[in-house]
Amino acid sequence: MPDIESLLKEKRSFKPSPEFAKQANWSRKQVAEYRKLGAKSPTRFWAKMAKENVAWFTPWKKVLDWKPPFAKWFVGAKTNVSYNCLDRHLEGPNAWRKNKAAIIWEGEPGDTRVLTYGELHKEVCRFANVLKAKGVEKGDRVCLYMPMIPELAIAMLACTRIGAPHSIVFGGFSADALRDRINDAEAKLVVTADGGYRKGAAFGLKAMVDAAVAQTPCVKSVVVVERTKQPVEIVPGRDCWWHEEMAKASTDCKPAKLDAENPLFLLYTSGTTGKPKGILHTTGGYLTQVTTTFKAIFDVKDTDVFWCTADIGWVTGHSYVVYGPLSNGATTVMYEGTPTHPGPDRWWSLIEKWGVTIFYTAPTAIRTFIRLGDEHPAKHDLSSLRLLGSVGEPINPEAWMWYHRVIGGKRCPIVDTWWQTETGGIMISALPGAVDTRPGSATLPFPGIHAEILDDKGKPVKGEGGGFLVLKQPWPGMLRGIWGDPARFKETYWSKYDKTYFAGDGAHRDKNGYFWIMGRIDDVMNVSGHRIGTMEVESALVSSPDVAEAAVVGRPDDITGTAIVAFVTPKGTTTPDEGLVGRLKQHVTKEIGAIARPSEIRFTNALPKTRSGKIMRRLLRDIASGRAVVGDTSTLEDFSVLAQLRASDED
Ligand code: PRX
Repeated sequence: MPDIESLLKEKRSFKPSPEFAKQANWSRKQVAEYRKLGAKSPTRFWAKMAKENVAWFTPWKKVLDWKPPFAKWFVGAKTNVSYNCLDRHLEGPNAWRKNKAAIIWEGEPGDTRVLTYGELHKEVCRFANVLKAKGVEKGDRVCLYMPMIPELAIAMLACTRIGAPHSIVFGGFSADALRDRINDAEAKLVVTADGGYRKGAAFGLKAMVDAAVAQTPCVKSVVVVERTKQPVEIVPGRDCWWHEEMAKASTDCKPAKLDAENPLFLLYTSGTTGKPKGILHTTGGYLTQVTTTFKAIFDVKDTDVFWCTADIGWVTGHSYVVYGPLSNGATTVMYEGTPTHPGPDRWWSLIEKWGVTIFYTAPTAIRTFIRLGDEHPAKHDLSSLRLLGSVGEPINPEAWMWYHRVIGGKRCPIVDTWWQTETGGIMISALPGAVDTRPGSATLPFPGIHAEILDDKGKPVKGEGGGFLVLKQPWPGMLRGIWGDPARFKETYWSKYDKTYFAGDGAHRDKNGYFWIMGRIDDVMNVSGHRIGTMEVESALVSSPDVAEAAVVGRPDDITGTAIVAFVTPKGTTTPDEGLVGRLKQHVTKEIGAIARPSEIRFTNALPKTRSGKIMRRLLRDIASGRAVVGDTSTLEDFSVLAQLRASDED
C-alpha cells in the first residue's frame, strides 16, 4: 500500500497534449456533457452508450430494473457477444474489416499467428459447432483451462455464440483448485491444451485436468488443443483433440439471440474466506461497459494495435484482451510467455515488431523492468506507442514516472484504471484526451459511475479525505451475483452500507476530486496484481498433516506489491526446519498454485490472539514487515509476551 503522506505530496500534473486531445475519441467537451448526463441519470447515460456502441437484435423495454442488490440491465433486449465481436465487423460499412487483424498472437518460442476478423469468425463458428456436437447447450457451463493461445479466445467467443457461460481457470492454478472450480460451476465440458510455453520450457496442463476430472462427475468431455506436442493421455469416450473435431465442423453457426441478462461467464476470485467466489457476469450490460470504456479510455482507432499483457485467466484479460478490443473491431495482441524470455527486452521487442500503439500493463511488471535497467527498452524503437495504461494495483509515482519517461517517451498519456473482477469493466480512470493526470492517482470516475468515499459510520467524506471506496449506483457491468451463493453476495458487497456496493478498497480524494486508491482494507492480498485471500492460503496450510495452526499476512514488497508471509504452528511431532519450509511451500502450490506460494514461512509455538480468540493480524503484519529475512527457522518464535502487551488494544 503506498504511503498516503508521500502520495498526497505529489504535485506533478500532466495535461493531454493538444495533438492528442484533438484526435481523442472523447473530447473535453464531450466528456463534460457525459459527466453531466451520467451524474443526473446514469441510466440515460448508459442507455445512450448501449445504443451507440453495441448492436442489439431486439431493443430493451426498460434500461434498469434495480431491486437492491439485484440489478437487471436492458430488460427484454436481445444480443450476442460473439456477434458484436465478429459478425458486425464483416457486414455493412465495416465489412472491410474482414481482412483486418483481429488477433496478433506470438508464442514464447517466437512462433506467430495472425487471425483476421474473417478467419476468427470461421474458427469461432466451427468451435461453437464442436461444443454443440458434444452436447453443450445454452446455459451449460464450459471450463477453459488453457495457455495464452488463440484457441482460448476462440473457445470464449464460441461459448458466447451459443449462450454457454465460460469459466476460465488461470493455467497457474493447481489440479485441486481446478477441480473445486469445475465442481462449483458444475461444468459439463473442459477445454485445455497439452501444455504451453513459459520461461523457455514446455509446461503441462492435461495431466492436471486428468487429476481434476477424476473427481468431477459433472464433466462429460474434454477437448485438448495440441500446442507443445508433449505426450498426453487421451481417455477414449471422454477426450478428443481440438484439431480433429474442428476439421469435421462446419463454419456456419448463427449467433443465438440471447437475453441481455443471459449469463456470460463465471470467474472465480478470492475473498475473505477459504473458498473462492464464482463471480457472475451477464451479457448486455457487461458488453456495453467494456465496449464503451475500451473506446473512450483506450481511445482506440482502426489504425491502432492494442496490447494488454494480462493473462486471459484474469478479468483484465477477459475484458481488455478479448471482449473490449474485439467488440470495437480493434487489433489485439496476445503473447503466450514470460516477459523476460529469452531476454529482459522481450516485451519491448514485441512492441517494436508489431508496432503496438496502446499498451496496458500492471505496476508490478513496470517495477520489475525498472530494476532490470533502462538499457533494455532503449534497444528498441518504441515510437509507435501513443497511449499507456496501468491496472491491478496502486501505481507508485516513481513507477508512473519511469513508465512515462522510458516507455512512453514523455509523449504518451497514462491511464491508471481502477476496477475489479466484480465491476466487469473500468470504473475510475482518466480519459486520455480530456483529463489531466497525476502520478499515482486513478483520477476520476467514468461518466455514469457514482463512486464515493464513506467513513466507518457510512457518512460520505465531503471534499478532501479518506475512507472506504463505494459505488452508490448500479452500473451495467456489475456482477449479478456469486454463483450458487446469494447470501454471500449480499453479505460481502451489500451489507456494510445500505443499497451501496462496498469495494473492499481504501481510497483518498484530494482537493481536485481526484481518487487515490490505497489498496485492500480486508483480508485479501494483492500479489503482483493478483488477488489472493489470506484465508485461502491458511486453509491450504492447515490441510497439511504437519500444521496445527496458521495465520497468513501480506508484507509490502518492492516488486510484487505484497509478499505472502505465513506464521505456522507445527503439530507437536513435527520439527520446524528448512525441510518443513520447503514441504509447506510445495503443499500450498499443490492446493492452490504457485501464485499463492508464501515467500516466507515463520514458525511459532502459538499464534498471538486476543482474549476472544481472534488472531492479531495487525501485530503479525507489523512483525512480518519489520523483518524481511528470517535466519534460523528452527527457532520457534514466542509471541506470548507481545500478545499480552497488545491484547488490550486489539480487543
Ligand atoms: O485493490 C484493487 C486493485 O485490485 C483489486 C481488484 O482485483 P481483481 O478483481 O483481481 O481485478 C484486478 C484487475 C481489474 C481492487 O480491489 N486494483 C485494481 N486496479 C487498481 C487497483 N488498485 C489501485 N489502482 C488500480 N488502478
